[in-house]
This record gives sequence, C-alpha cells and structure tokens, in this order.
Amino acid sequence: MKTVVDVKEWQKLRKELKGEIGFVPTMGALHEGHASLLRKSRTENAVSVLSIFVNPTQFNDKKDFEKYPITLESDQQLAKACGVDYILFPQASEIYSDNYRFKMTENKLSNILEGAFRPGHFDGVLSVVLKLFNLVQPTRSYFGEKDFQQLRLIQDMTKALFLPIEVIACETLRESDGLAMSSRNFRLSTAARAKAPQIAKYLMSELTNQEVAKKLAESGFEVEYVATEMSRRLIAAKIEGVRLIDNVKN
Ligand code: PAF
Repeated sequence: MKTVVDVKEWQKLRKELKGEIGFVPTMGALHEGHASLLRKSRTENAVSVLSIFVNPTQFNDKKDFEKYPITLESDQQLAKACGVDYILFPQASEIYSDNYRFKMTENKLSNILEGAFRPGHFDGVLSVVLKLFNLVQPTRSYFGEKDFQQLRLIQDMTKALFLPIEVIACETLRESDGLAMSSRNFRLSTAARAKAPQIAKYLMSELTNQEVAKKLAESGFEVEYVATEMSRRLIAAKIEGVRLIDNVKN
C-alpha cells in the first residue's frame, strides 16, 4: 500500500494503473463503516484507492473544521487491513490551487435539509468529489447511505455531467445500540454517547416527525430537522455541540 501526498506524483502513477478502479473518498478518522466500503471496493475492483482529505470548503463552521479528528496512522493500518492499494492524502493548497474560484453548485436538493442548515456545504462536497473523481478516474465509487442527501447529489451530479463512474450506495453500519457509525461519534462525551442511540431509536419508531423532534428535545438534543424526503426519514440533531445525522427508509 502506498500513500501519495503529491498530486502530480499521483497523476503520473494513475496513468500506469490498469484494470477497474474502486474509489472510497473520505475525510479520514476511519471506522468500521468506512472499512465496509473499502472491503467492497477491494472485492469488486482490480485496484482499490482511498482518499483522505479533510475538505475545508464543506465546513460552514470553522470550529467544526478545526476539531475534525486527524488519525492518519490508524487510518493507514485500517486501510492496509482492507486491501487498499493507494491512499491519496493531498494538501488543500494543491486541491484548491484555484483558491476555490471554480465550484460545483446544485440548485435544488442542496438547498433543503443539510443545505438549509449548512450554507455552502454541498458546493464544497460536490466540488471536491468532482476534483477527486477527475484525479482518480475510478470505475466505481462507494458512499454510505448515512449521508443520504450527499449520496443522492453525487449520483445526480455524476449523471448530469456524464461521468463514466458507477456510484454505489452502501447501507449505514450501526453500533450494537443502533447509533449510526460516524467519525463524529469519537467526539461524544460518555454522557452524550449514552444518549446518542435515541436518534436511531426514535427514527425507526412509529412516532411522527414532530413527536420525534419533541422527544429528542426533551432528552437535551438541539434538533435541527426531522423530515421525510427522498423516501427516507432524516434527522439532524446536536448533542453537547456534536452534530449527528441519520436516516432510514420511510
Ligand atoms: O462523506 C464524506 O466523508 C465527505 O463529505 C466526502 C464525500 C469525502 C467529501 O469530502
């Protein structure tokens, strides 16, 4: 397994790669959810590529960006165990050599739910994914359903821009108490971690969206939305300042 930091070096290397390429873009702080995407990529492709890039343009909250965990060594260990061939670990100065003069914007789905609470978030996500797709030129790319709106937007972008990439949706992995796996879970205090599974519990219950929001608020969550869209029931709520999202089939 090779970790490549330099974008030019990667582009040279990419020209030599043969066969189908599986790609898992991440922001690092890898967990079992990422591992399942990496294993799928390994079994379905000749070459498996992981990118780790904490993308500054998708954070509307500077503090959230600064607090994002960076765990390169343990990420490399997990990647190796999942059969990754290459880790692309680029610098922001190289990814955004244009100073973000060019961006990818979607004008409909990106304005609701996550987009309504995180202005500019999906511009950042779509722009970086498009750049990474251009760099890696994968056959298939793997995304978790936990970020369902992101997944849908990336599928739509790929289709709209005729990108020859199969975007594969992978089911959300959950802890044994139901909490959706997320890099943000690492930031939960013991007390917040104990409360966090209520999100999945109420999401999967028969309660109405309004009732779910009320129950979570009573437990101390700051609820941003509980909504039904894209045939899913989706939630975003903060606990002790850590923002968690989840969704299930409706
Ligand atoms: O889901 C993520 O980790 C990020 O939004 C992604 C797709 C890697 C883009 O930075």
